[in-house]
Amino acid sequence: MNYFLQLFKLLPPELAHSFSLKSLKILYKLRLLKYFITFDDNHIDEIEFAGMIFKNRLGTAAGLDKNGDYIDALGELGFGFLEVGTVTPVPQDGNTKPRVFRNYKENSIINRLGFNNKGVDHLLKNLKKRKYKGILGVNIGANKDSSGNQRINDYLICLEKVNKYADYITINISSPNTPNLRDLHSEANLAKLINEVDRAVEDFKINIPIFLKISPDEKNESIDLIIKLVESSSIIGIIATNTTIDKSNILSKEFKVIDGGLSGEKLMDESTKKLSYIKSKSQNMPLIGVGGVLSREDFKKKIDSGADLIQIYTGFIIKGPDLIKDILGN
Ligand SMILES: Cc1cc2nc3c(=O)[nH]c(=O)nc-3n(C[C@H](O)[C@H](O)[C@H](O)COP(=O)(O)O)c2cc1C
Repeated sequence: MNYFLQLFKLLPPELAHSFSLKSLKILYKLRLLKYFITFDDNHIDEIEFAGMIFKNRLGTAAGLDKNGDYIDALGELGFGFLEVGTVTPVPQDGNTKPRVFRNYKENSIINRLGFNNKGVDHLLKNLKKRKYKGILGVNIGANKDSSGNQRINDYLICLEKVNKYADYITINISSPNTPNLRDLHSEANLAKLINEVDRAVEDFKINIPIFLKISPDEKNESIDLIIKLVESSSIIGIIATNTTIDKSNILSKEFKVIDGGLSGEKLMDESTKKLSYIKSKSQNMPLIGVGGVLSREDFKKKIDSGADLIQIYTGFIIKGPDLIKDILGN
């Protein structure tokens, strides 16, 4: 598996991504994937969290499988849960290429994809036909061209469509690559969104947990307000964090000036700080930690900082499925 990974690293990032996932899917279909899993994932720490049973605390972060095209293959790698999306009501192409940049030396990625996805109906088909039996979250967002009430409506459309086919839903307000999306962190905008979500939960009789995924670039005062709004709503927990627009700790001069959201090693400290801060302010808030996990030590750090579950994206791209074994193996 690692041999292929090294070869794929020679390709442009988006091509490498789709080749890797397609290869996983082929191996899965040929029933060969299980032979690449060299750790026993049956004994590990099964936990109950937010009313769901997870076979372990490690999952995929949103963006890895935006359309749910690879659910069964990813599900066989040993993860305790998968999060698919971000999906929007209407399919969209995202920003122009190139829009993903890998920096292997600094174990980091910058992306400005802009929610490229095949739309919620495509994802729904994949959710319905999945064989994967583990916990599956769906991350939802708004289309680039939607603004004002339509933007809020986009979340409601996705909530209504996916809630019967997912174990949990994530409301993503934190991508830096959809213009003005992060404005939804402000008190007035978030209150309005949450109000509508509360109403949708009643109207559509939604009985699965809903999480809010936040940006690492918010100040603590803003996080205080977010916590307050979440605590008094139907949203049960927070996913911290998405990518950052702060490139100050990148060493490479060329990489530093690329527009987009930064993930991986260079995000670890800031995203973990935000996680600890939320934990310190709201001890009982269900928390999913994400950002910069590239080793078992990073994983433990996030747990020690208050995360109940952990997600990975960049670490998985850079280290491949071996990272799952590093984190979960004996
Ligand atoms: C190429 C790429 C695409 C991403 N797409 C999404 C997305 O669609 N929705 C989302 O909520 N987060 C998305 N993310 C953010 C990740 O889910 C995660 O929050 C972030 O990368 C930090 O974790 P990491 O350091 O383990 O990558 C994306 C990240 C990358 C690198």
